[in-house]
Amino acid sequence: MGNPPTPRWLPVVAAFLVCVTIGSMLVVLDRVPGRSRRPEASGPTPIAGSDLHLRGRYVFQRHCAVCHGRWGDGRGEMSVGMRPRPRDFTTGVFKFRSTPSGFLPTDEDLRRTLRRGIANSSMPAFGSLAENEVEAVIAYIKTLSPRWMDGTASVAVQHLGTDPPWLGDPVASAGHRAAGKVTFVTHCAPCHGIAGDGASAVANSLEDIWGQPCPPSDLRSTSLKSGPEPINIFRTLSTGLDGSPMPSFAESLNTVQRWDLVAYLLGLRSSNEPPSAPETR
Ligand code: HEC
Ligand code: HEC
Repeated sequence: MGNPPTPRWLPVVAAFLVCVTIGSMLVVLDRVPGRSRRPEASGPTPIAGSDLHLRGRYVFQRHCAVCHGRWGDGRGEMSVGMRPRPRDFTTGVFKFRSTPSGFLPTDEDLRRTLRRGIANSSMPAFGSLAENEVEAVIAYIKTLSPRWMDGTASVAVQHLGTDPPWLGDPVASAGHRAAGKVTFVTHCAPCHGIAGDGASAVANSLEDIWGQPCPPSDLRSTSLKSGPEPINIFRTLSTGLDGSPMPSFAESLNTVQRWDLVAYLLGLRSSNEPPSAPETR
């Protein structure tokens, strides 16, 4: 009793004020163009600061960041509630590739995705970007994950060949379709359903590596994510869609078996004509 009240809280308040001041200075600094709170990639960036990098970053912030996020982590303001979620480029995992499962896509793969967009998702087709803008944004994406600096993650392009000559001929392909059906029932139906419509026992439980639901595609559709042509289906079967449950069948099915499957899937389309065509089911 009698002691004058010691302002023990004074140093605490002072420290708090200092923190707040430094904090707001950092926030202001972060807004200064060319300064970033987080590095653009945790690995070295070969083109950082170059003209190509600056142009790529500009295109990215202008056309892509709203979905893919300012840092390329897939958390753009429009991404909230989006299914599937915009790709998180910091993981360096890509679905649409001509390279074997587990490898990075080629520039050509990325260009195809950008130019065509991804059907059944919010990813738009960027048809009107100039070729040098596409080139720059592709180079920029490649600075967003350290995987691009890992030489073992890139491989030379895989030559997938071209459509077999019998594919367009209904008579010659009949045997291939029949063989494809047998393979489909054992290898694909467990996920895609016996009708190929995506209805299977596991359909609702499949997830991608980013923890989002990833239902199996309706394979009767002509609007496929990787493109509508036979070679696009063949590529998907040969490389898998990394990050999703769709595996690569390059090891378990030979080239003939994979083309037989393509023939079978093309046949399924006639049972799922667009609404303008006469009802067949
Ligand atoms: C309106 C939202 C939106 C915008 C804008 C957008 N994307 Fe996407 N993007 C997506 C979604 C959603 C996916 C995932 C689709 C999926 O997984 O099926 C995606 C996927 C991708 C992929 C596929 C990667 C893979 O797995 O193979 C690439 C590459 C890509 N986007 C690049 C871009 C670039 C570059 C831009 C800007 C020029 C851009 N995106 C703008 C929504 C968007
Ligand atoms: C373990 C489950 C699983 C198995 C087995 C499986 N798939 Fe898939 N498949 C998926 C999922 C999930 C997707 C959707 C991926 C996405 O949307 O990102 C998919 C996507 C596809 C696509 C791409 C569709 C598009 O929109 O581009 C094709 C083609 C396909 N599967 C064919 C097959 C065939 C043929 C087989 C058998 C040889 C097969 N799948 C086996 C789960 C599976």
